[in-house]
Amino acid sequence: MFETLQQQPADKILELVAMYREDPRADKVDLGVGVYKDATGLTPVMRAVKAAEHTLWETQDSKVYTGLAGDPAFADAMIDLVLSGAVPRANVAAAATPGGTGAVRQSFELIQMANAGARVFVSNPTWPNHISMLNYLGIEMVPYRYFDEETRGVDFDGMLADLKTARKGDVVLLHGCCHNPTGANLNSAEWDAVIGVLLETGATPMIDIAYQGFGDGLDADAAATRKLVAAVPECIIAASCSKNFGIYRERTGLLMVVNNAGDATALNQSTLAYLNRQNFSFPPDHGARLVTMILTDPALRADWQSELEDVRQSMLGLRTALADELQRLSNSDRFGFLAQHRGMFSRLGTTPEMVEKLRKDHGIYMVGDSRMNIAGLNAQTVPILAKAIIDAGI
Ligand code: LMR
Repeated sequence: MFETLQQQPADKILELVAMYREDPRADKVDLGVGVYKDATGLTPVMRAVKAAEHTLWETQDSKVYTGLAGDPAFADAMIDLVLSGAVPRANVAAAATPGGTGAVRQSFELIQMANAGARVFVSNPTWPNHISMLNYLGIEMVPYRYFDEETRGVDFDGMLADLKTARKGDVVLLHGCCHNPTGANLNSAEWDAVIGVLLETGATPMIDIAYQGFGDGLDADAAATRKLVAAVPECIIAASCSKNFGIYRERTGLLMVVNNAGDATALNQSTLAYLNRQNFSFPPDHGARLVTMILTDPALRADWQSELEDVRQSMLGLRTALADELQRLSNSDRFGFLAQHRGMFSRLGTTPEMVEKLRKDHGIYMVGDSRMNIAGLNAQTVPILAKAIIDAGI
């Protein structure tokens, strides 16, 4: 039967990981997959994670199943981290998932279950796997304008005009912070206007928040999400612990469904448990347990926050250094947007041909749409990248 299978398109981001690994050049620069790297190129295990793992190893006496929605203590701790009391805990149904991707995938299944005709509005561009999963599930997708190729900021008028065409029963997928792949984000007044349009149209918002703590800080990055959930009748949130806890391979995420209008939390909760059961039964526990331990222990939490803040500051430093170097070499401010963008990524704004040229001629790897992982840079590679960008005539 398997002769009927057809080759599926390779994931553009993961394909790049393999290409980079195979490149023998010693001075190659990896700006591909969204993984934090320190100045030595290592993706370290965070101190608090190590400490929690140590304690867990010493104290855990059973690995018996948790619950279909995971350990409720994990949900409590994460709901507090993301929403910080913006809505009553009783309004939130939540289930642990395998990573943020798992939360997004379960969200899409939930949407399909609730309304088979739902359209999901996605920013143009968005994380490619949003599109891939929506296509896979056969959910209709409507791109809304987002990135302004000229300013490298948000085309806010275009975005708002497109979101106004959504209707009740549709879902609007928003990036809570640190937009992936562009790095361009809404300001607070723009979020207010988006909330206004959501209330006007009755469309349901879904927030993908995978980089809390990587932009302007843990609370600042969640501010828009908190404001939005308090204002709308219902909302879906897919949160990831992969990046801010650095536990990529542990697959740790949380799906939250907020219902402020009625008493739907119990029904939502049982639906999330049912969906988990259909797809994988129990969600992974190891990463979720570490996160719970860190968030509920004041000393571990303080240490985690301080290390996360160092990570954020180092990315900001790299942004500024790259923007400054490009300003010096180009004698213009046209790369100033790099210092304005927030999160791991910035979209440089050049053609796939130029991206290919940078890879071939300079061993610089970025995603084909010219998304750069800023955390892939260091003090040595900033000038190399800047020179390559100018030499290529970008
Ligand atoms: C990315 O966008 O690079 C990350 O979210 C990793 C992934 O799974 O694509």
